[in-house]
This record gives sequence, structure tokens and C-alpha cells, in this order.
Amino acid sequence: MLNEKIAKLINEQVNKELYSGYLYLDFANYYADEGLDGFAHWYEVQAQEERDHAMMMRRYLLDNGYRVTFDAIAKPDKTFSKHSEPLDAGFEHEKYVTSLINEIYSQAFVIKDFKTMQFLDWFIKEQGEEEKNADDMVKKYKMFGHDAKGLYALNQELAARVYTPSATGPAM
Ligand code: FEO
Repeated sequence: MLNEKIAKLINEQVNKELYSGYLYLDFANYYADEGLDGFAHWYEVQAQEERDHAMMMRRYLLDNGYRVTFDAIAKPDKTFSKHSEPLDAGFEHEKYVTSLINEIYSQAFVIKDFKTMQFLDWFIKEQGEEEKNADDMVKKYKMFGHDAKGLYALNQELAARVYTPSATGPAM
């Protein structure tokens, strides 16, 4: 059985991952409205990945005898006036998510919950990639986003992102 406190933190993280998906879909809505379909697509794929993260945590809880409960998902409340703003917000959000995962990991470490630590190893690595991807978006926009041709090329590049299900995630 899972420690109750750890299980509760992971259950809360399920909600936060679903919120992340919601947030990124909101970014996609903004870019679609701006005519930047490649940026919109990139965030639609990101939203799918966030749902995968939530489902992996839900499955871990279920497989360890914990009754998962769902809370309301918060409304994304950001408004954007520049194309760079969702990119900056995305990078900040991923750093925040990393801090949440790290906190669960450190709690698991304190009580010697090695099984949960092993489960979270995948997420620790994933957060490294998520932060890098978000940082790359910020950097690329800084380099290419302020010129119409550069923005067009970047939009094309982002349109090519392929969704790969996180099925190879952690062993339960
Ligand atoms: Fe599920 Fe973007 O972290």
C-alpha cells in the first residue's frame, strides 16, 4: 500500500497535469486565432502529453490500491498580447511542474518509498526534457520570431511535431 500522504500528493498532481493540458490547449486556442497553426499544433501535442502524464499517475495510484478522486480543473486565466507571451509562460509553468515533481520525490525519499521514487524517475527525466523544449521555444522565437519570414519558417517547423504516446513510461 502507498503511504497516504504520498498518494494524496500524486492524486493532486493528476489534477495539475490535467490543468497543464488545459493550459496548453488554451495557448493553442490563442495561436490558432492568430493564424499560427504550427504553434497551435505544437501546443495541442503538448496537451496530449500532459494528459498521458495524468493517466500514468492515475494508473500508478489505482495499481497500488488507492482510490483516485478528481477535483475541478482550474480555468486558464492568462490573456496574451504578444506571440512570445505563451512561450515565456510555458517555460515558467514547466519549471513550476518540475518543483512539484521534485517535492513528491523528496517526500518519497524521506519515508524510503523506493517504489514511488522509481516510478517518479521517469517524470524527473521527462521534466528535464519539458523544460528544455520550453526554453528552446523561447530562444527560437527570440531568434526568428520578429521577422515575417522567420516566423513563417518557425511556424512550419512547429507544425511538424509528432505526438508519441508516453506508453513507455514508468514500470508500475
Ligand atoms: Fe507533465 Fe509538462 O509536465
